[in-house]
Amino acid sequence: MFPKSTLRCMKCNREYGSEEILYSCPNCGSLLEVIIDTPTTSLEQMSKRPLGVWRYLEFLPAGEGTEIVSLEEGGTPLYKCDRLGKWAGLSKLYVKFEGANPTGSFKDRGMTLGVTKAKSLGSKAVACASTGNTSASLAAYAAKSGLTCYVILPSGKVAMGKLAQALMHGAKVISVKGNFDEALKLVMELSTKMGIYLLNSINPWRLEGQKTLAFETIDQLGHAPALLAVPMGNCGNVSAIWKGYNEFKDSGLTDSLPRMYGVQAEGASPVVNMLRAGAEKLAPVLNPETVATAIRIGNPVNWPKAARAIRESDGLSETVSDEEIIGAQRMLASLEGIGIEPASAASIAGVKKAVENGKIDRDTEAVCVCTGHLLKDPEEAIKVCGKPVEVPADFKVISGLLTN
Ligand SMILES: Cc1ncc(COP(=O)(O)O)c(C=O)c1O
Ligand SMILES: [Zn+2]
Repeated sequence: MFPKSTLRCMKCNREYGSEEILYSCPNCGSLLEVIIDTPTTSLEQMSKRPLGVWRYLEFLPAGEGTEIVSLEEGGTPLYKCDRLGKWAGLSKLYVKFEGANPTGSFKDRGMTLGVTKAKSLGSKAVACASTGNTSASLAAYAAKSGLTCYVILPSGKVAMGKLAQALMHGAKVISVKGNFDEALKLVMELSTKMGIYLLNSINPWRLEGQKTLAFETIDQLGHAPALLAVPMGNCGNVSAIWKGYNEFKDSGLTDSLPRMYGVQAEGASPVVNMLRAGAEKLAPVLNPETVATAIRIGNPVNWPKAARAIRESDGLSETVSDEEIIGAQRMLASLEGIGIEPASAASIAGVKKAVENGKIDRDTEAVCVCTGHLLKDPEEAIKVCGKPVEVPADFKVISGLLTN
């Protein structure tokens, strides 16, 4: 049922066995990707299973005989957002609400596969560095599967909801006085030297789970959208989603592919800067800063994959300010009833900007990936909305405040 797979280097094309524990090419140090044997199946055949990551078994290289670690992830709603569309200037705007995943973010799609892989390789412990959501997700899947989980977080820069999740699911949480990029460097060294399985998105198996978002949009829309907008941090998701669309195309399950639209926060936009400059190498942003803590990343490891996805798809990239991010977050919540965390709103702010700048036209069918739930970052929400007024428990006083 599961496809056969190998690991292949993006740069020198060397191939490695799927049982090898590798996070980069031993020959040249570049990123690795999973290559699967192209499946022969149909949407109809797969639709006998519930919508979700594991509907797409034929595309998921879990390894024969492996016991899947799942919290029933994926199968998230695709909302048609007409009121928000009016505000953004688009007639066909959809939101893929990844906050509806078990731990409230898209990371669960990757972790179900990543932790399944960790178990099949016989690992006893898993680790990650995180801006918050990766740790919340990994902690939950580690709990489900009985693995020890280590989490390294940039001190003071992780939203409260995410920290609460990692702690409650029993991860060993270490806060380092440094930013995410420093935390990732540390955890990469720790995992290699201490034999702990690393589940940041440099691990290509995780991206195999995340690619299912592409499959679901095709199932839900009946075709691939014209534009797929996604916030970019460490750039795993944009790469994974592009891989998914291509695999469906190779299997004859879609004729068309979307243009990929990667959106970064102004204060943390190394990939957009690079693409704008037409450069071939990334210049890291040394002190990334944005209200969208989930994408506060200055040196994204997956930049070569992201750059390839955007270039190959004749895609777009853009930066958005914190003000635009918060504005989009508030509009989605108040016009459509969908609550997302700030980073997720970058995709919405991004499509609005692209219409305004004439980069896409008003009739473009656009899917915005909204990556995480509002409750991940309640402090930010209260900061931007303001605290409620406090009054005596008195009918007259309160009724005087209601305006209808
Ligand atoms: C809510 C949210 N959005 C976007 C991202 C960025 O995803 P990626 O690192 O795959 O680019 C993250 C990553 O932590 C996230 O938590
Ligand atoms: Zn190589």
